[in-house]
Amino acid sequence: MAVAPQPDSAAPPPPLAARAARISVSATSTVLAEADRLRAAGRDLVDFGVGEPDFSTPEHIREAGLEALRAGFTRYTPTPGLAELRAAVAAAHARDFGSNYPPADALVTVGGKQALFNAVSVLVDHGDEVILPAPYWVSFLDQIRYAGGVPVVVPAREERGFTLDLADIERALTPRTKLILLNSPANPSGALLPPAFFAGVLDLCRRRGLWLLSDECYAKFVYDDQPYSVGAEPAARDRVVLAGSLSKTYVMTGWRIGYALGPAPVIAAMLKVQSHSTSNATSFAQKAAIAALTGTQAPLAAMLAEFRRRRDLIVQGLRAIPGVRCVLPRGAFYAYPNVADLLGRPGGPQTTLEFSARLLQDQGVVTVPGEAFGTAAHLRFSYAVPEPAIREGLRRLAAFSALLK
Ligand SMILES: Cc1ncc(COP(=O)(O)O)c(C=O)c1O
Repeated sequence: MAVAPQPDSAAPPPPLAARAARISVSATSTVLAEADRLRAAGRDLVDFGVGEPDFSTPEHIREAGLEALRAGFTRYTPTPGLAELRAAVAAAHARDFGSNYPPADALVTVGGKQALFNAVSVLVDHGDEVILPAPYWVSFLDQIRYAGGVPVVVPAREERGFTLDLADIERALTPRTKLILLNSPANPSGALLPPAFFAGVLDLCRRRGLWLLSDECYAKFVYDDQPYSVGAEPAARDRVVLAGSLSKTYVMTGWRIGYALGPAPVIAAMLKVQSHSTSNATSFAQKAAIAALTGTQAPLAAMLAEFRRRRDLIVQGLRAIPGVRCVLPRGAFYAYPNVADLLGRPGGPQTTLEFSARLLQDQGVVTVPGEAFGTAAHLRFSYAVPEPAIREGLRRLAAFSALLK
């Protein structure tokens, strides 16, 4: 008869894989969890922490998803996505940015995040260095580390709208550099990297034998410029992997549809990773995505017009607060003001982590501290928030800051 082992004689389980210890829960979620706790306790919050548009998925997109469900379209799809959706991804990218990808070079993923994850998995080996401008979206850092790579953080120049010079990147290259990861417009700074910069980086990648991974999650969220994709450069075809997302553009964050466009061998390798992890993106969400990409773009235009107004409002309001400086974000939906002048006062917050925590406790204003994005003097404000809330949040921030004087 089998005897159950005594609990105290059992060998302990082995440690978790080292790769799990190399990454952490994003600082963004920590702040947002505290905000959730306060909200549940009845606090009246102004929430600038949100990373998604405060609109609904447009009706015709939801209808397409419902129609697919009603028709029983609920089974596995091909791993790279429905052929019709891959064609729609390539066609929409050509329409929006002037690129020329064949549908076969499009991979449909579970959100833009999986496109990035798959790409980093197949491009980055243990010890490979990846150039990453700061401030960065925190998932870039942890995806690189998870793959065993080494992020080489290159500070962007705040005085120039958080852009970089090519020389800044060139100086950071070593024989171990494998990949340059760019995100424009950027989360959290709203920085827009100009086409000439991308062309220079692409040239650098060709000369030095590197990959370029470009996260285009916010590519349509530009307010003063034409949308741009490095994927439209002819020299990009064998060098660049694009990670795109329908999440923000079509207010589809919960549907989890993204895509990658890139050189056939990279897409084929990414497909292998996906085939052993998520298989395919959700079947009926793919049908909704086809409607999003091929249908009317009017809801997007209306949302962008609203975001432009809010951007101007929040930047103007932030700049009016003594001690706060703010570069004009040219894209995405975040402002990234510098509050260095308000830190370090006796009895006041010493870091933006503390600033953000006290602003939340004292005034009920949710922000994300710059530490989460690799800079020490900033706070991220999402303006995916209605105008009256923006005004109220600015009023509370001004009151909080005045007490620090
Ligand atoms: C810079 C950036 N890239 C990619 C994503 C991924 O978005 P999703 O996975 O929802 O498509 C996000 C989401 O916040 C983001 O901010």
